[in-house]
Amino acid sequence: MATLKRVIIHDKAFKLLIPAEEIRSIVHRMGQQLAERYAQEDLVCVVILKGAFMFANDLIRAMQIPCEITFLRAQSYGAQMYSSGKVHIEFFTNHQRLQDRAVLIIEDIVDSGLTLQAIREYLAQHRPKSIETATLLLKPDTFQGPMPEYVGKAISPLFVIGYGMDYNEGGRYLPDIYVLDSSTAGTTVKQG
Ligand code: IMP
Repeated sequence: MATLKRVIIHDKAFKLLIPAEEIRSIVHRMGQQLAERYAQEDLVCVVILKGAFMFANDLIRAMQIPCEITFLRAQSYGAQMYSSGKVHIEFFTNHQRLQDRAVLIIEDIVDSGLTLQAIREYLAQHRPKSIETATLLLKPDTFQGPMPEYVGKAISPLFVIGYGMDYNEGGRYLPDIYVLDSSTAGTTVKQG
């Protein structure tokens, strides 16, 4: 799919922020770093749905080390462009198998940090050997809480879509990442 400079999702315009080629090199670098860190560990990757599915798919292949893969869904955004502050963990498969194992949370984007904090607390109850986080994107201006150990790229606190991330379920399929065109900002956005 050719890189588009601008896309319209529902009623909003988004402009290109991170082309697929740059995403590939970020993922490659993170994959190498994580492979070194986890080569000797009993690793469980916890993929946060839905947004991290595409990143996790590429990252896990870039790591090229054995791991178990499981999925968790956490929602903190209501019908707004900002976190509601309450994090609801919807489902999680095989959490009984985390004890004494190395857990790597794979997130698409960390904004306020509330979702990540709630996920870490939830997973810690299962007494893993370690918990670390790899996130593709981080918004440092809005972020508070435990710093993710592996960050692909820091971005300004604007709403982004593509490469798994959505606006009202639209735009997840895009191979590049787009940012809300500020001239069209200001209405509600719901995502999961
Ligand atoms: P936080 O709790 O504010 O850190 O929000 C984290 C979650 O909100 C992420 O897992 C994403 O699902 C979602 N999110 C935060 N910022 C964006 C964005 O710019 N675009 C799409 N989803 C986002």
